[in-house]
Order: sequence, then C-alpha cells, then structure tokens
Amino acid sequence: MEIEGDRIRLRTLEQDDARGIVRYADHEENWRYTLFDLYPYYEEYARDFIDRAQKGYESGIQIILGIELIDQEELIGAVDLRIIDRENKCAEIGYMVSYPYWGKGYATEAIRLLIGYAFDNMMLHRLQAVIFEVNARSSRVLEKCGFVREGVERQRYFREGNWHDGIVFSILDSECRTREP
Ligand SMILES: CC(C)(COP(=O)(O)OP(=O)(O)OC[C@H]1O[C@@H](n2cnc3c(N)ncnc32)[C@H](O)[C@@H]1OP(=O)(O)O)[C@@H](O)C(=O)NCCC(=O)NCCS
Repeated sequence: MEIEGDRIRLRTLEQDDARGIVRYADHEENWRYTLFDLYPYYEEYARDFIDRAQKGYESGIQIILGIELIDQEELIGAVDLRIIDRENKCAEIGYMVSYPYWGKGYATEAIRLLIGYAFDNMMLHRLQAVIFEVNARSSRVLEKCGFVREGVERQRYFREGNWHDGIVFSILDSECRTREP
C-alpha cells in the first residue's frame, strides 16, 4: 500500500526496512514524549515493529506505514492508525519523524495524507490522538492538520520522574481539510 504526497509517500513496511527504522528511531528525543521509551533502539525492536505492522494489515485493525522521502527513497519516520472502536468508526493515531528532519513540515504532510486515507478510504468518522502536554511541537502539528484540542486526561503518563497530563485531540470526517483544493 502506498499513499503519495508532494515530498513524501506513506508505504507498507517490509522485512528489509529494519535498518532504516533503526536509523530514524534511534534518537533519545524521539522517545521522550511517546508512550514507550525505546531508546537506545535496537534492530530487534524494528523487527517487532514490522511484524506488528504486518499483523495489523492482516487484521484490518491497525495500519502502520513508513514515511519515505520520495526523491531519496529514505525512511524518515512512520505513522500509525489503530481502530479503537469499530462500531463507532473511531481510530487513534501516532507518528514519529527522524530527529534531523524535524521542523520541515514532514509530520504535517504525513498526517494529512493519513487523515485523507482514513476518512475517504476507511470511511472512519473520528480520529483521535493523545499526547503529553509538554509535547508542544506535536500539539502544533495536530492543530495544523485540523485537530481540535478536546480534553485532558489528568496525570495519565509517568515519565522522567513526573506525572504528565495527556491531551486529547480529535478530528471528525466533516472537518477534514485535506479535501480542500
Ligand atoms: C512531533 C513530531 C512528529 C513533529 O514532526 P515535524 O516533522 O518536526 O513537524 P512539522 O515540521 O510538520 O511541524 C512542526 C511544527 O511545530 C512547531 N514547533 C517547533 N517547536 C515548537 C515548540 N517548542 N512549541 C510549539 N511549536 C513548535 C514548528 O514551528 C512547526 O509549526 P509551523 O509549521 O507552524 O512553524 C516530531 O517532533 C517527533 O517525531 N517527535 C517524537 C515523537 C512524538 O512525540 N510523536 C508524537 C506523539 S505520538
């Protein structure tokens, strides 16, 4: 599966992507405000990630796609969409971009592509993301993609010796801006 954007494509992960995944994921900053702290990031983690991606495609419950630069065919991150309530057409997303590529708009482009696919092809109604309140960069990306901040999960995550609130963002199919020309 491939979803082509202007500078990046989202694509299915294959077994031989393990090294490419390690290259983008093995940076402390990438895990600071995510649910799992997997730094240092070993190749066996990447192989588990690829297995999970392949099982996810088969079950139809989860889609994990690599973010690849079109002109260099280099993996620079991944997006993840997991259906959390099939009956009510609701899924949760996650995303990561390689640290040296931060601030270039790649996460925004990747999430917009994912949103378009989720609403137009999977016919979902609602997407949500839950992020650490200190992850201001991630909040900004979600807002740029049309997500609305809707609530706080108080002291939801313990990280680096402190409890952190989780901030819930969501977007509905009727609010999808990727359909604009
Ligand atoms: C969150 C993440 C995906 C963003 O990727 P990115 O490619 O840098 O995002 P973009 O370049 O598309 O957009 C970043 C935006 O944040 C803004 N930003 C940067 N630092 C910021 C800060 N400290 N406070 C607020 N906004 C900030 C940028 O200016 C940019 O907005 P702009 O286009 O209006 O200028 C990336 O930092 C990452 O992989 N983090 C680790 C994993 C993670 O936290 N994932 C989210 C939880 S699942």
